[in-house]
Amino acid sequence: MSQTEQKSIVVLISGQGSNMQAIVRAARERQWDKRWGARVVGVVSNRPESAGLLWAREQGLATAAVDHKAYDGREVFDAALMQAVDGLAPNKWPDLVVLAGFMRILTPGFVAHYAGRLVNIHPSLLPAFPGLHTHRRAIEAGCRFAGATVHRVTAELDHGEYLEQAVVPVLPDDTADSLAARVLTQEHLIYPRAIERLLAGL
Ligand code: GAR
Repeated sequence: MSQTEQKSIVVLISGQGSNMQAIVRAARERQWDKRWGARVVGVVSNRPESAGLLWAREQGLATAAVDHKAYDGREVFDAALMQAVDGLAPNKWPDLVVLAGFMRILTPGFVAHYAGRLVNIHPSLLPAFPGLHTHRRAIEAGCRFAGATVHRVTAELDHGEYLEQAVVPVLPDDTADSLAARVLTQEHLIYPRAIERLLAGL
């Protein structure tokens, strides 16, 4: 299979990138290249110093940093981001763009550019708790269960078709951090699984 026939995946991160790492590992261990001709071609971060970007570089992955602080407004930042994302795909057209802890709100123009190819993971059981501080809000609301959702991205924040969800208990002595850690272990399972289902349908 030539490089341009491959299905390319670009992952966007902002921080430690543990979901990105789970995806890269799953791609290798579960042979996404042999099964679907799919490959993680690169990782982009809006934070040049993010630990996840360093890890990706150490793995030999192509990386790009597009620092949101260097841009005057969301439209220009997203235009630069699009250029970086498309630039990592061998055919200039990634088949999947995976938001994995990417903490910038995207413009409708960006979402439209990747329509049908853009997915996100959100650390709550959507439609509960879109937005930030999901774990604290779940504890404060007295939820007995919390979780994570992989969903397609639409122009509306944390909306779009749900692809996978995972549920974890909220324990009586949970803090936002302990709940986040429990949810994160499940995120690492459901995100690669959701991507595999998408690849099977591409
Ligand atoms: C994850 O919990 C992810 O669901 C969340 O950020 C964390 C990133 O962790 N994403 C959002 O809150 C998006 N609004 P990671 O960098 O270790 O993958």
